[in-house]
Amino acid sequence: MKHLIDPTDLTKEEIDQIVALAEDIIAHRERYQGSMAHKKLATLFYEPSTRTRLSFTAAMMELGGNVLGFSNPQNSSVSKGETVQDTVRVVGCFADIIAMRHPIEGAPLVASEVSRVPIINAGDGSHSHPTQTLTDLLTIKRELGHIDGITIGFCGDLRFGRTVHSLIKALSRYKDIKVVLIAPDELRLPDYIKQDVCDKMGVAYRETNSLDDAIPELDVLYMTRVQKERFLDEDEFDRVKDSFVLDARRMALAKEKMAVLHPLPRVNEILTEVDDDPRAAYFRQVENGKLVRMALIISLMEWKNDPAHGMPEHDAPILNPALHCTNPKCICNNEKHESRFRLAENGITRCWYCDSKVR
Ligand code: CP
Repeated sequence: MKHLIDPTDLTKEEIDQIVALAEDIIAHRERYQGSMAHKKLATLFYEPSTRTRLSFTAAMMELGGNVLGFSNPQNSSVSKGETVQDTVRVVGCFADIIAMRHPIEGAPLVASEVSRVPIINAGDGSHSHPTQTLTDLLTIKRELGHIDGITIGFCGDLRFGRTVHSLIKALSRYKDIKVVLIAPDELRLPDYIKQDVCDKMGVAYRETNSLDDAIPELDVLYMTRVQKERFLDEDEFDRVKDSFVLDARRMALAKEKMAVLHPLPRVNEILTEVDDDPRAAYFRQVENGKLVRMALIISLMEWKNDPAHGMPEHDAPILNPALHCTNPKCICNNEKHESRFRLAENGITRCWYCDSKVR
């Protein structure tokens, strides 16, 4: 069964096919109306969302399909203690495809292990957000005309920003990508992305804490919100919350053709004075989110049982009772699941579900 849990579940060719299909939908919207008639999408959102849930809903409606689900798990049997796996087993009896957002890392992965319909990860904790990545890739392609060869600056909360982690994974498959990581020390990119993705795939990156120094070289500036809800310590959040603010003065330092992306919502990291700048692409990015999710739904429904579009092969998991994942937001520490690990770059052992380093 083809699912989308992590951007690496799609080959580069599959990503390019989805982006190309989204471009065809833009050009020939009428051809796709009705292509999901009598099909049902379930949106299971255990965490708040505006763009992702509503764009999935709008995408399925534009394709002629129907949508069911919940946006607040307290209104479902989750509040009675139903597990993620039991919930998807049940919802798979009603729906043809499921989009799931969950605050616990690895929840969509364990859902996919028992689901009889495709599962789409619509964001799991600080871990991954692959459909935002497809949105970002379509936006970069439409704004700049190409993805290969870009220099992209990620600015703000690179530690908890799941959209950043997923986009770097996907970009690592494109040619000549240069990454500039702009963050205070407390919010730096996790090591597993630097080691397992950038070092392994040969992506050139540098780290800085100066947006002013970095901005002149960028083709894309990817701003992010500091994710208050992910901090365990409120004082730490207060120290870093206003680290970087994009304003008209800083935009004057940038290339004439630079594109500003932001997964949104923003809080105060982009001033509204930037919104009318033609380089501000973040509201066009929102619309691209619906278009690319239309393309994703069509593709997964077509590929779900096609051996030519299988899931990637992984080495067998390490099952060692002496090892323990210490991430309190990992699914294996929130529901009963067998502890599993994988051997990553530099001989480091990581949790199978959340990628945390195991000590
Ligand atoms: N970009 C994004 O994931 O937005 P929502 O949290 O509103 O879905």
